[in-house]
Amino acid sequence: MSHKDELIATDIVGYLNAHENKSFLRFLTCGSVDDGKSTLIGRLLYDSKLIYEDQLERVETDSKKSGTTGEKPDLALLVDGLAAEREQGITIDVAYRFFSTDKRKFIVADTPGHEQYTRNMATGASTADLAILLIDARKGVQVQTKRHSFIASMLGIKHVIVAINKMDLIGYSQFAYDKIVDDFQIFANDLGFANITPIPMSALDGDNVSSRSSQMPWYHGPCLLDHLENVDVTRDTPLKSFRLPVQWVNRPNLNFRGFSGTIASGKIAPGDEIIVIPSGKRSKVKAIVTMDGELDRAVEDQAITLTLDDEIDISRGDFICSTDNPAEQSDQFQAQILWMAEKKLFPGRGYLLKTGNKTVPASITTLRHRVDVNDFSAQAAKTLALNEVGICNISLGQPVVFDPYDLNKHTGSFILIDRQTNATVGIGMLNFSLRRASNVVWQDLEIGKTERAEQKNQKPAVLWFTGLSGSGKSTIANLVEKKLFDMGRHTYTLDGDNVRHGLNKDLGFTDADRVENIRRVGESAKLMVDAGLFVLCAFISPFRAERRMARRMVDAHEFIEVYVNTPLAVAEKRDVKGLYAKARRGEIKNFTGIDSDYQPPKKPEIVVDTVKLSAEQAAEQIVDYLQAQGFLESQDID
Ligand code: ADX
Repeated sequence: MSHKDELIATDIVGYLNAHENKSFLRFLTCGSVDDGKSTLIGRLLYDSKLIYEDQLERVETDSKKSGTTGEKPDLALLVDGLAAEREQGITIDVAYRFFSTDKRKFIVADTPGHEQYTRNMATGASTADLAILLIDARKGVQVQTKRHSFIASMLGIKHVIVAINKMDLIGYSQFAYDKIVDDFQIFANDLGFANITPIPMSALDGDNVSSRSSQMPWYHGPCLLDHLENVDVTRDTPLKSFRLPVQWVNRPNLNFRGFSGTIASGKIAPGDEIIVIPSGKRSKVKAIVTMDGELDRAVEDQAITLTLDDEIDISRGDFICSTDNPAEQSDQFQAQILWMAEKKLFPGRGYLLKTGNKTVPASITTLRHRVDVNDFSAQAAKTLALNEVGICNISLGQPVVFDPYDLNKHTGSFILIDRQTNATVGIGMLNFSLRRASNVVWQDLEIGKTERAEQKNQKPAVLWFTGLSGSGKSTIANLVEKKLFDMGRHTYTLDGDNVRHGLNKDLGFTDADRVENIRRVGESAKLMVDAGLFVLCAFISPFRAERRMARRMVDAHEFIEVYVNTPLAVAEKRDVKGLYAKARRGEIKNFTGIDSDYQPPKKPEIVVDTVKLSAEQAAEQIVDYLQAQGFLESQDID
């Protein structure tokens, strides 16, 4: 091996320590096929002296045989071995290469440059801190350059090196270089890169790769390796809150139960309080276990196993989060998608969506628009073809836990999978949830009728007032509501005259309409009972069948039928609204008691006799009933 590090010979421990403490830079190279990507990576490997002698010898011999570089060793051959394997059908979507210098360790994702391999570029980019965008100095900024830049930016890469390669072929012209740099800057203005470093180079000759070139004295910036060694890519995940997407539940024996995964953001220490999403269960961290023993704290990107103080149910795909700002969950999103399959994307078709450690059924409900990668304009589109980017609404078969991609690229990205072939057909970023209710599950409890009622400290019920028009239903119901209100109870009144102005304004007084009227009111009352309220319903509700239907919509003890028993003659005599007179004159059709039926209840819970009792007394009778039945007892436990 030609790696000449003095330390190896003299102080192996020192060497290992130095090596261990070096920082890591993950980057990817992208460019069109002939931009010189392989040569550039070969050159970096060669110059960082991490090439075995025999490899180098082979390259030298091969270069003479099949190289394209004349007398010079064709460094691309170092890298293209894999490309050849790829062509033979050995699928290596992205080849990761490792090399190191005295200052830093590097992992470079080498991705094929053909247009159809954009998807591989995206795969490589998803883990990279920096992208080297290669531009052939003779050709300048191409559509492919724009596409790659767009994808890099879409995937959250903040640092870009614009490697303007093959400067030797344009006579090292500063003018041509400046023009390409300007073109790129104008284009990339809106892409949100934190820094763009253009470097003129010749990968083949090594100009400005690992040392400054004497061929381009007009260039005063760093050479490529210099920049790679020194660029500060401290990852600034905007989200600081702790997230551990659980990859597996580690249970080697009955005494140990740990939750393993890679920290997606934030930090954690023993004793920290956590919440599990979606269950909402809470506990405290007992220990952070790793291959190298227990840790005092762990941070983003570390692979760990957590043990907790309590035995709580956690499954693969759940998120362990800090309690201050737990992740959301949702099943409806707006997302940005890069389509990576020959078969087009069609809204409505079923796919699988994989995010974090969970895979769920998904479909694109709306393709809002396609993004033109040349100028980022929005174009109307019905489908997305290979390599196209679009903004769409996605609906999932089951909710997933997530953070918006802007805040955390680990927990905000996903892939789409074809259900038949299992191939990855798209990658995407979750922009935001389309449902506001997505974070209501933070409570440890499922919120149901019982919890809502307990919160209000009451036993909800429907008080269903039935009787003729003018019998006094609304008057009595209002008085009862006032009494309950004064007792601090939570109530609501649904009244025939009111509901018919809104919810049921499309209904008249035919038998069919009255049935529908009561059905809707019954459903509404049911929802209100579910919300924990006392619901007072005042409706003629002339037919037994519909009153029974309304009764069945809630639990048996929750329906209290109050028959406001006012004989027709009495109601007609009172005729508060003057409607009986009109009905008698034939001005109102289907009037209850006149030319429309009223079926008195057979076994109502309460009968109030309005001939004998005033409205106030009737109201008291009803409240007494509620009291006697335990509806008004204080539910306080303490
Ligand atoms: S129900 O039969 O469908 O239950 P609801 O209680 O909603 O009737 O509405 C009854 C109220 O509508 C009456 O109190 C009265 O003010 C008004 N109304 C208008 N036309 C009629 C009618 N033909 N029959 C009964 N009530 C009517």
